Amino acid sequence: MKPSRSPRQVFDYSVEIAREADQAGFADFMIGEHATQAWESVPNPEIVIGACARETEQLRFAPMAHLLGLHNPGSLAIQVGWLSQVLEGRYFLGVGPGAYPRDAILRGQPADLSEARPRRDEALEIMQKIWDRKPFHHQGEYFTAGFPEETESDETGDEFHMMPDFSPWNGVENLEIAMTALSYGSASMKYAGANNFSPISFFGGMEVGKSHWAKYAEGQEENGFTPDRMRFRMCRDIVVADTDAEAKRIALEGGLGTCWENYLVPVYKEFNILQGYIDDSGTGIDQADLDMDWIAEHVWICGSPETVIEKLQAMNDTIGGMGQIVMNTHDYADDPKPWVESMHRIAKEVVPNIKDVAAVV
Ligand SMILES: Cc1cc2nc3c(=O)[nH]c(=O)nc-3n(C[C@H](O)[C@H](O)[C@H](O)COP(=O)(O)O)c2cc1C
Repeated sequence: MKPSRSPRQVFDYSVEIAREADQAGFADFMIGEHATQAWESVPNPEIVIGACARETEQLRFAPMAHLLGLHNPGSLAIQVGWLSQVLEGRYFLGVGPGAYPRDAILRGQPADLSEARPRRDEALEIMQKIWDRKPFHHQGEYFTAGFPEETESDETGDEFHMMPDFSPWNGVENLEIAMTALSYGSASMKYAGANNFSPISFFGGMEVGKSHWAKYAEGQEENGFTPDRMRFRMCRDIVVADTDAEAKRIALEGGLGTCWENYLVPVYKEFNILQGYIDDSGTGIDQADLDMDWIAEHVWICGSPETVIEKLQAMNDTIGGMGQIVMNTHDYADDPKPWVESMHRIAKEVVPNIKDVAAVV
C-alpha cells in the first residue's frame, strides 16, 4: 500500500479485497506482518482476519507470516488457537523469521537478524507444547513459558477455576502450519519438511524454486514423511486483462508498478533476489540497468489469459509441480475495478487451465 494511505484505508481495502477473493473462489487469503515498513503497513494481520471472518464464506485465512521471534510465544499460541476457533477452521498459521532489521531493532534484537531463525524455532516448540495443554515450564535460550495445572473443577463443580480450551480448532493435528522461504537452498525449507509444515516460497527464479522443493523433500524424507507437491505454494505478481498490452498497462500504471518502482526493486536489489530472474530471462542484463519495462516482461506475469496460463505452466513444469499459486496484492484502492476483474479472471480462466500441478519432474 502507498505510504500515504491511512491505517483505516489499508484496513478497509484489505477487507474489500478479501471479500472479492472469497467471491472469486480463491482458496486462501494471507496477510503479512510488518511494523516498520511504510509500504507494507499491517502490523497485526490477526485483526484484519478477525474483520474478514464475518464478511466471507469459504476463504481460509493466514497471517503470512507471524514473525515468531518477535512475539511472546505463550500469548501467540493462545491467540492463534482462539482465532482458528473464531474462524471455525478457516484458518492456518504462517510462520517466518522476519525479513526487516528495523522490526528486530524495535524489539531490542540484533539488526543482523542472527536471532530471527533460532527464535522462530524455539517459539514454535513452545507453542506446540501449549497446544498440548499439559503442564510444563520452559526456560530456554530466548523465551520462558509454561502451561498451568488445571484444577479438578469437574469433580468439585468449581467453575471459578475452569480454563478455556484455546487450542486450535478441531485439535492441533488439524492446524496447518506454513513456513516461508526466500533464499537459495533455504534451511527454512529443510526445517519445514522435517516438522511436516507446508512450504511457501517467494519466487526468486527457477533455480531458487527448485532448491526450495529439494530441501523441503529432503527434510520430509529424512523424517519419514512423504512430500506432497500439492502443499507447495509459490508467490507471484499476476495481472490478467483482455490483451497483453492492456494487462501490462494496468500493471505499470497502477499500484503494482508504483510499488515495484519505489519499493520492491530497491528492496529486491538489496536482498539480491533479482539475479534469479535475470538468469531465467537469458538477457544477461546488469542489475543496475533494469527498467520497469524489463520488470513487466520478466518479473511479473501479466497478459491475456492465454499468456498468463503459458507463463505459469512453464514455471510449474520447470520447478516440478506445485499445488497453489499465490498472487501478491497491490494498492488499487483508488480504482479497484481492473485489479478485481483480474483477480476474478485468474481464479476462473487461468488457474483451472494449469495442467499437472503436482507432477514430479
Ligand atoms: C510467503 C511469504 C510471506 C512472508 N511474509 C513476511 C512478513 O509478513 N513479514 C516479514 O518481515 N517477512 C516476511 N517474509 C520473509 C520472511 O520473514 C523471511 O525473510 C524468509 O522466509 C527467509 O527465508 P529463508 O529462511 O529461506 O532465507 C515472507 C516470506 C514469504 C515467502
